[in-house]
Amino acid sequence: MDADEGYVLTPWEVSGNIDYDDLIKRFGTSRIDKTLQDRIENIVGEVHFMLRREIFYSHRDFNWILDQYEKGNRFAMYTGRGPSGHTHVGHLMPWIFAKWLQDKFGVDLYFQLTDDEKFLFNFDMELEKTHSFALENALDVIALGFDPEKTHIFIDTDYINTIYPIALKVAKRLNFSNVKAVFGFDNSTNVGSIFYTSIQSAPCFLPTELEGKDVPVVIPCGIDQDPHFRLTRDIANTIGYFKPALLHNKLAPSLDGTGKMSASIPKTTIFTTDTPKDVKSKLSNAFTGGCISAKEQREKGGNPDICAIQNYRYFIFEENDEEVEKIAKKCRMGDILCGECKAQLIEKVNAFLKKHQDGREKAKDLLDQYIISD
Ligand code: TRP
Repeated sequence: MDADEGYVLTPWEVSGNIDYDDLIKRFGTSRIDKTLQDRIENIVGEVHFMLRREIFYSHRDFNWILDQYEKGNRFAMYTGRGPSGHTHVGHLMPWIFAKWLQDKFGVDLYFQLTDDEKFLFNFDMELEKTHSFALENALDVIALGFDPEKTHIFIDTDYINTIYPIALKVAKRLNFSNVKAVFGFDNSTNVGSIFYTSIQSAPCFLPTELEGKDVPVVIPCGIDQDPHFRLTRDIANTIGYFKPALLHNKLAPSLDGTGKMSASIPKTTIFTTDTPKDVKSKLSNAFTGGCISAKEQREKGGNPDICAIQNYRYFIFEENDEEVEKIAKKCRMGDILCGECKAQLIEKVNAFLKKHQDGREKAKDLLDQYIISD
């Protein structure tokens, strides 16, 4: 995608002001509308706040997944993470949602850690490094409390015997001109990167291979990952598999009020390994919709719509809609100043991280229960 639209969004680069409605049109996906939300609610008895707030806002074929489910054909989920560094709270969003889906539908999750991808695409990353981050990131997945019986995490280079035969089937059907057009590759792109989509596609068909019968698969993921799976879907039937369905989330915003949270700008991103002090300093320096002086803010009020603190609440840290609205209202009325509002979120994030970090510690002894390898 080029910059004509005022933003860039590829699996490896996100910048500018992303127009999410425009993406639905350009990518040709469907909106998760009220009808689909209601259908989900009818089946599982509730609707997750990320659906209600349209954070998970777009999909491909999720109605088909539900049709299958209602016929008694259990689906599987697949998602993943490129281990280029520690996990940040933005990464947790689709995982938290996947956990909810697992709880509600009782389905298996396959989780791919692409140490190969991050090695290939980041010039200065060694494979040892991406592999060790993969293990670190696995701790974050486990800490969220996924069911060990139903959750299968794998690191590409440790599971490649299983992945490779499937990746080959995909690779044989993908041609260079398509991959090039979708990702904007050129003649200087390394050949590993050109092949890589085959590796990210393979887990879509892994449940079918492992179970020896056709298993419908849905992928909850950031909308930036859709280009890979568009290619996968194009060739799935020709190699004898179901097309994977998708549920797309919007990307978590960064603390400086722009773009998406990025691991490469640590000051504007909260990592799951951050200390309470880090959190305090990052959130204290975040971009807000407040006025220059307290006096002015009391008179005129602030603008919660552009505020990074409020965005954090909305996207991850406040499930209760009324609470979100209450603070927004107070802000607009000038009844709460940025300092107090930040302090409230700092407390909330630190409480979350304390629990999460305890979970990460415990996860170190549980890796064997979750990780699958050749
Ligand atoms: N490419 C993804 C990233 O850079 C990692 C990934 C692999 C993934 N498989 C996936 C993400 C499936 C979502 C769904 O983070």
